[in-house]
Amino acid sequence: MRCQSADASSKLILLGEHAVVYGKTALAVPLLKPRASARVVPAPAGRPAGVDLKDLEVRWDGDARDVPPAAAPFARLIALAVERFPAVPACGWELVVRSRIPSGCGLGSGAATAAAALRAVCARFAVSCAPALLSELVYEVEKLHHGTPSGIDNTVIAMGRPILYARGAAPRFLTRPAAPCFLVVGHTGRSHRTSEVVADVARARGLNPVRHDAIFDAIGRLSGPGAEAFQAARWIDLGQLMDRNQELLKDLGVSSAELDALVGAARRAGALGAKLSGAGRGGCMAALAADAVSGQRVEKALKAAGAAETFLTEVGDHAAS
Ligand code: PMV
Repeated sequence: MRCQSADASSKLILLGEHAVVYGKTALAVPLLKPRASARVVPAPAGRPAGVDLKDLEVRWDGDARDVPPAAAPFARLIALAVERFPAVPACGWELVVRSRIPSGCGLGSGAATAAAALRAVCARFAVSCAPALLSELVYEVEKLHHGTPSGIDNTVIAMGRPILYARGAAPRFLTRPAAPCFLVVGHTGRSHRTSEVVADVARARGLNPVRHDAIFDAIGRLSGPGAEAFQAARWIDLGQLMDRNQELLKDLGVSSAELDALVGAARRAGALGAKLSGAGRGGCMAALAADAVSGQRVEKALKAAGAAETFLTEVGDHAAS
């Protein structure tokens, strides 16, 4: 049996997390790195498909009665693939998954590993799976991680293009800017559970809906101008919008001392804007850099300020590559 590999990018929300849960528009981009990859390899003919999660050293042999928690999303994904695509057999193959994307930190690691795995399965069994269907299937897997995710992670990662995203509407694809968009990601080292942070925000909104809805409205208003700035490579304007978004996320109570420290360090090192990215309360922040040299300076400053991990990366665009 042939082996087949595929990969998927990580993602960043440049503007609009949390507000997107309440129907506002967010701006999200795929990143050139870090990435996740998956490979379909042969397994004994009668054995149900399983998964080998190399980074976690977790292996599941396909026995539905005994699924380790880390393998549960892949068990769901395999079941979905077998159910939706008659060409995908239930037995005789295994997924091998590797990821450089830290999990639980706002970079979409769950959606990326699921997208890479589904792409590898579809390629191996010659199934055609358009990005919209890939996104739908990844969303089904994402529900295991997050309960009721807004759908932004699966959409931007499956489509592989910068998007404006609002719940229940088709994503709006952004045109590629004329200059590369350099981003520096700093990981606080503390992972978060998106579902818990989202539930906390929902509780706080329940106590004070007027205040919270005003914050969500203000966040939602940033994405349109952000998309314009992004497409026109007006990085100074985009950076200012990111800074404004960070203030609003702080008002929402989802930043943290570690995130604030990294955001401050990035700005002092010359970042054009910086904010937490994803659910917050830990996880990652992202800083916009004018160019690669400035990005290196920001990355150095993030390391000095205690970032557990950093990535100097660029916005990717699957459609353009
Ligand atoms: O899972 P994360 O950390 O990438 O956060 C996702 C963004 C939220 O808006 C907080 C939740 C969602 O479902 O959109």
